[in-house]
Amino acid sequence: MAYYYPEPSHTFSEYLLIPGYTSEDCVPDHVSLKTPLVKYRKGAEEPAISLNVPLTSAVMQSVSNDTLAIALAKEGGISFIYGSQSIENQAAMVARVKGYKAGFVTSASNLTPEATLADVLALKQRNGFSTVALTEDGTANGKLLGIVTSRDYRVSRMAPTDKVRDFMTPRQKLVTAPAETTLKEANDIIWEHKLNSLPIVDENDHLLYFVFRKDYSSHKDNPLELLDSKKRYLVGAGINTRDYAARIPALLEAGADVLVIDSSEGYTCWQEKTIKWVRDTYGDTVKIGAGNVVDKDGFRFLAEAGADFVKVGIGGSICITRETKGIGRGQATALIEVAAARDEYFKETGIYVPICSDGGIVHDYHMTLALAMGADFLMLGRYFARFDESPTNKVMVNGAYMKEYWGEGSNRARNWQRYDLGGSAKLSFEEGVDSYVTYAGPLRDNVEASLYKVKSTMCNVGVTNIPDLQQNAKLTLVSSVSIVEGGYHDVTLRSSSPVK
Ligand code: IMP
Repeated sequence: MAYYYPEPSHTFSEYLLIPGYTSEDCVPDHVSLKTPLVKYRKGAEEPAISLNVPLTSAVMQSVSNDTLAIALAKEGGISFIYGSQSIENQAAMVARVKGYKAGFVTSASNLTPEATLADVLALKQRNGFSTVALTEDGTANGKLLGIVTSRDYRVSRMAPTDKVRDFMTPRQKLVTAPAETTLKEANDIIWEHKLNSLPIVDENDHLLYFVFRKDYSSHKDNPLELLDSKKRYLVGAGINTRDYAARIPALLEAGADVLVIDSSEGYTCWQEKTIKWVRDTYGDTVKIGAGNVVDKDGFRFLAEAGADFVKVGIGGSICITRETKGIGRGQATALIEVAAARDEYFKETGIYVPICSDGGIVHDYHMTLALAMGADFLMLGRYFARFDESPTNKVMVNGAYMKEYWGEGSNRARNWQRYDLGGSAKLSFEEGVDSYVTYAGPLRDNVEASLYKVKSTMCNVGVTNIPDLQQNAKLTLVSSVSIVEGGYHDVTLRSSSPVK
């Protein structure tokens, strides 16, 4: 006879935290969100990689490219660059994150000197930048011929048809610096020559970046930024269980710091084989997470196979796996059971294998709940897809700005490897949808606001770090009637809905 769980499985919105004692020191500014990313001997050593905030971005075409990875690493989290693209393209994205130099900005506004004042003004209106690079071919990395800023023209005294070459600051009058320049040196040059921007050029005088006066110190602006020993941003990459022998070397060569097997279902021989290949080829030097699982058996299997962390969850916002296949579990219940299995495994072996709650975070308070239920860090798709830095188009739908967001199991992504069970190489049916999410602006502002809420809730619980939250939180299941009580009720709102 089949096994029946005695209890139904639950989701985040069915739980609440109970306040604990809050002392004077328990204030959001004292809260640390530092958390391990990969397994380690807790109590005997430090993890090889920790996050400064417990956020990772989903291994998805519509979420994790190099732009988002840089923005998230600046805030202390890590992205896993999506693997449903060619090995070359994925490795190039990883390389761009590793090659990124904080404060060194690829020129966003570029023209040739043959353009007109009208072109400059149109460009400025379109993207808001007042520094325009003039290059031979009008691209961001063309041969530098001059720059134009608002100091170079007076709209009231000039004709829109005036050629840029006649009023730009020409190359010979520009102060520039070579490729090897550090941010500190660049800032010194800017200061010494009273510049607003410093073009960085290669040996052929091609423009590489600008350093702007305002980017004085990256680390002062981003105190939690996640850096490797060479001060480069950390970045992860998704892999599959088919082409790993070709993909992994290319990703490592490009500088990937950590890998994850991206799959809707991780309790498989394919994941075991993939991890074994990594251990046989690289020993413990290459870090690789696996998943997804939703119970203790799945966790134990992947931990014993050698996974560096284990992802939990079947049921993201775009996921229709439960609907199409009738397989999955309420995310809260899955997480609670897997967290208990992780703790048991730690007691037995002394090895702490971090777990990641993947998918289903809708409200910011779900983040705190997931951590309280035992997650060491979270993976989010929908959340990050809404930001400027995600790779998808921003479109106007019914008068509001939206961003596109599609599942890896949708026809649009065609990521059959994620759903691969060793059969034919194709996506036989969809397990995800193609959708829109409400546009929400820059990643930084949103992450700051969300994590402030997390920290503030942790103070209500009476804790200032994630391990204490996991140990000391008290959680209660709520009835459907008390869920209604949890929102505003029995009042008529005077204005638009309150901030959640
Ligand atoms: P979200 O944060 O709720 O949007 O969930 C994101 C997670 O959903 C990802 O990290 C994946 O684990 C999962 N996912 C991505 N694409 C699909 C899909 O097409 N079907 C099912 N799950 C998906």
